[in-house]
Amino acid sequence: MNEAAIGVFDSGLGGLTAVKELTKVLPMENIIYFGDTARVPYGTRSRETIKKYAEQDASFLLSKGVKMIIAACGTVSSNVPDLADILPVPFTGVITPAATAAVQATKNGRIGVIGTSATIKSGAYKREIQKQNDRISVYQQDCPLFVPLVENGFIDKNDEIVRLVVQRYLEELKSENIDTLILGCTHFPIIADAVSEYLGRSVTLIDSGRETALFAANLLNKNKLLSTSGSIGQCRYYVSDTVESFRHTAEIFLGKSVDGEVYKT
Ligand code: DGL
Repeated sequence: MNEAAIGVFDSGLGGLTAVKELTKVLPMENIIYFGDTARVPYGTRSRETIKKYAEQDASFLLSKGVKMIIAACGTVSSNVPDLADILPVPFTGVITPAATAAVQATKNGRIGVIGTSATIKSGAYKREIQKQNDRISVYQQDCPLFVPLVENGFIDKNDEIVRLVVQRYLEELKSENIDTLILGCTHFPIIADAVSEYLGRSVTLIDSGRETALFAANLLNKNKLLSTSGSIGQCRYYVSDTVESFRHTAEIFLGKSVDGEVYKT
């Protein structure tokens, strides 16, 4: 079982920001990624639909024999918190890892959370943060336009459109004097520079993908499931829509060219 792959899924290709971090933290692990590109986005859908899709995504990964599952998607993690209960392998979403890191990072007890509309509506981050420390104030803002902006390559912090959208969404959070902000969506690390430029360098940005990769490493270790082969891991990618544009879009999120086989499910 130790040499089986880690399964990672997301509504689309944004979850590759978590894969990027995972390959840094656990370079020896094989990864099987599933992106539900035929049904993305999830962030505008109802909880029932998100739950149904997430269960199907996880089942697909189980059929590939993975030893652990990571829901890299903020929308899934916040709307299907009980996914772990129906899985026969260790599981993590992004909420607990990112909330824990934010609670540790804040000095003034004022944390901001941004995500898709479904993520913010669920209140999952706020609940988790205040479960850990009920004296912390949490300010939430959904930023739905960030997703298509990133997917269409609007990521430069000097781009007028990027600056305008960032300002519009984050104006209120800025006025709340937060000192920590959770980037609670797969796509948001890509525009972290623009967010940081607007909020100021003193605001700590929490990358949910990065924190989840660290959390997953601990979870594997605890379950004695770390790879022992000693060789560099491979990535295999599955998507539910065409593989044609995969490499181009994937590079935005991975920050490098795709190295690994890509299949349509
Ligand atoms: N992957 C989603 C998330 O992290 C963003 C894209 C979508 O709405 O499906 O919330």
